[in-house]
Amino acid sequence: MDKRSGKDGVSVDWILDLINPGTSPSQLTHIYDQICTKYDKNAASLNYEGPAIAAEEIARMIPEEQRQQVRVLDVAAGTGWVGSQLHQKGFTNIDAVEPSGGMMNILNNTGVYTRKYQEFIGFGQCTVAKDSYDVVVVCGSLCRGHIPVEGINYMIQVAKPGGLVVILMRKECLLTAEEYKDKLEAHMDHLQKTNVWQKEVKKTVANYFCGKEGTVFIYRVL
Ligand SMILES: C[S@@+](CC[C@H](N)C(=O)[O-])C[C@H]1O[C@@H](n2cnc3c(N)ncnc32)[C@H](O)[C@@H]1O
Repeated sequence: MDKRSGKDGVSVDWILDLINPGTSPSQLTHIYDQICTKYDKNAASLNYEGPAIAAEEIARMIPEEQRQQVRVLDVAAGTGWVGSQLHQKGFTNIDAVEPSGGMMNILNNTGVYTRKYQEFIGFGQCTVAKDSYDVVVVCGSLCRGHIPVEGINYMIQVAKPGGLVVILMRKECLLTAEEYKDKLEAHMDHLQKTNVWQKEVKKTVANYFCGKEGTVFIYRVL
C-alpha cells in the first residue's frame, strides 16, 4: 500500500507516525490537541468509513422506534464522527468519552452529544457511572499507542447488563499491532468463557479505512 495514498497526499499513518513505543497517554493527548483541526479533513481524504460502518452496524441491532431512548456512549469519540453518523440514523441520546481537549472542542460543535467525559480508558480512570449504557461503541481508536486491551473492561463496566459493546478497528491492527496481536481476542474469549459477555458478531468489512479492511465485533454484556 502506498503510504501516501490519501487524496491530498496525506500519509496513511499520519497519526501513528507521530507515536513511538515510549509515547505516554498524556503525550498522545498533546499530539491530538495539535492535530485536531486537521483531523476531519485528513480522515476524509483517506476514505475513513469506520464511523459510517459503526452507525450502520448499531442501527441493524436497534430498531428505529427505540433509537431515541437507548443511551449510547461513544468512547474515544475524537471530533464526533461516530455520534454524528448515529444522529443521522435517529439516535438522540449520545454521550462521549475523549481525553483530548482539542478534539473535544470540535466534538462540541457537532451538537449531537449530551454528556462529555474528558478522560482516558484502560488506565484505571473511570468517572462514568457503571451499568449506564445500552450501547458502548469504540471506533478507530484500538490502534498502536492508543487504548490498551484493559480498555475493554471499562466498556463492559459502563454498559448495562444486556447492553451492547461495539468495537471497530483496522483488521491489520488486530493482527499485527504488538498491543493486540494474540492479546485482544484472547482477552475477549476469556471474558466470554467467564460469562461476562456473549459474542453476537465478528466480521470483516471492506473499505473501512483507506480501502483496507476493518474488523467489527459486537458483544452483549451478560
Ligand atoms: C483516530 S481518533 C478516532 C476518533 C473517532 N472515534 C473517529 O472514529 O473519528 C483516536 C481517538 O482516541 C482517543 N484516545 C486515545 N487513547 C485513548 C484512551 N486511552 N482512552 C480514550 N480515548 C483515547 C484520542 O484522543 C483520539 O481522539
